[in-house]
Amino acid sequence: MAIEKTLCILKPDAVKAGNIGNIIAHIQKEGFKIQAMKLARLSDRSAGKFYEVHKERPFYGSLVEFMSSGACVPIALEKENAIAEWRRVIGATDPAEAADGTIRKLYATSKGENAVHGSDSVENGLREIAFFFTEAEIAELGL
Ligand code: RTP
Ligand code: MG
Repeated sequence: MAIEKTLCILKPDAVKAGNIGNIIAHIQKEGFKIQAMKLARLSDRSAGKFYEVHKERPFYGSLVEFMSSGACVPIALEKENAIAEWRRVIGATDPAEAADGTIRKLYATSKGENAVHGSDSVENGLREIAFFFTEAEIAELGL
């Protein structure tokens, strides 16, 4: 299977709850390589741009408000089959439906405030990594 990249974001609820360390440990235990990481604070405008694909959805306004409500931690991850693998590790969007042991089951509080983001395709993963990181901020680790 191909080596892929995905963008993870530790969302403001996870940061506020003090779960940055726990979730990074979980990421490493699952064998993902961290290629880039930083503490960031999205403005309303950048949160809106990042989740633009959901512009017409009823939850868009609250999603943008939540994502700009505090610091977040974007992390570029690399692994074989990373897109599907990361979505398996984080679990379903709604923590009530997430499998035991998944990050959202462990740390999310609701469908809206669900601790972590994961890219949904290889193409979007690359686009989302470029949204947060310049080329100089990305370590090409190789495998
Ligand atoms: P993400 O993009 O953040 O990894 O989440 P996802 O693929 O599992 O879910 P998606 O459908 O892309 O939705 C993006 C984010 O919007 C919020 N949301 N709230 N209240 C609601 O019904 C609702 N639905 C979605 C969540 O924060 C979700 O992760
Ligand atoms: Mg999504």
